[in-house]
Amino acid sequence: MATRQDSTERLINMPSFNQLDAHGRLRHLISLEGLPADTIHQLLDRAQTYVRRIDERPAQSHALTGCTVANIFTEPSTRTRASFELAARRLGAEVLNLEIQLSSRMKGETILDTIHTLQAMSMDAFVIRDAQPGVCRFVAENVAPHVSVLSAGEAHLSHPTQGLLDALTIIQHKPQLGDLTLAVVGDIRHSRVARSAHHVFTALGIGELRIVAPDALMPESHEMPGAKRFDSIENGIRDADVIMMLRIQKERMEQADIPDGDQYFAQWGLTEQRLSLAQQDVIVLHPGPMNREIEIASSVADGKHSVIRQQVTNGVAVRMAVLESVITTRQLARGIA
Ligand code: CP
Repeated sequence: MATRQDSTERLINMPSFNQLDAHGRLRHLISLEGLPADTIHQLLDRAQTYVRRIDERPAQSHALTGCTVANIFTEPSTRTRASFELAARRLGAEVLNLEIQLSSRMKGETILDTIHTLQAMSMDAFVIRDAQPGVCRFVAENVAPHVSVLSAGEAHLSHPTQGLLDALTIIQHKPQLGDLTLAVVGDIRHSRVARSAHHVFTALGIGELRIVAPDALMPESHEMPGAKRFDSIENGIRDADVIMMLRIQKERMEQADIPDGDQYFAQWGLTEQRLSLAQQDVIVLHPGPMNREIEIASSVADGKHSVIRQQVTNGVAVRMAVLESVITTRQLARGIA
């Protein structure tokens, strides 16, 4: 049986996949790795125009009227699925949420037959979350030319819209990324959020990127080049401007040499006492869902340094920007925009 590492090696050895069309416009969004900084900045700038306070009416447009977006999630999700759906609707698109457990995938239909079946009902974009590495790319290589594929989280490899919303949230508080120290703490080995953070902050030029984890939760040595590695949370978050806590991903571990619950919190949890080691104006991110009192104390998650709910708000805006960008790119190419 293929292991996680085999899959990673296989993907590393695959020729790179071009997510841009022949004119350099975004066609698919499967990974932030290698995406030009200009493209990332354009998406973030566009997303910012869609950000509203939560007590205001949400931003809406008719940019995608007549378009249809299909959400195909084979792993659980609250934030990503809800925000992709709201993003599509707020742009005027129709949304199809395929209930995988009630779909013909359960009768053995292949992913490609499912995609081609839905494509025959007129889809403009597929939003895919899947535990298997390579599925998003495989689908992207097999959809019709007018259709885009967006990753909503792929195995431990990539969560590109999460990377974008994390970048937007940090920039809203601290726009000079080159001056910042960002500490990513916790289960980095199994985290697509950490990998997408590495991709986006490498492209945008963060001052210092630290990865902070017990040995069993560190990625392989060839992964995340340029990041500084720390094996103690106290050293890793000292003087940090931004701390990104990660969820322990038991579902991706066959077996890991890490302490359980209370012991993990004692050694690796972000408490108020530990937070005082960082800069006074530090901000704290967490992609959610959180394991409270395991990787983060509730008093920190709900405290004055936390921007966790702002991340969620920004998620809708980022997904609006991405959907609008890929679908209007295809429409421009077909001369119907
Ligand atoms: N951050 C994130 O991907 O959350 P969900 O699993 O709830 O979508």
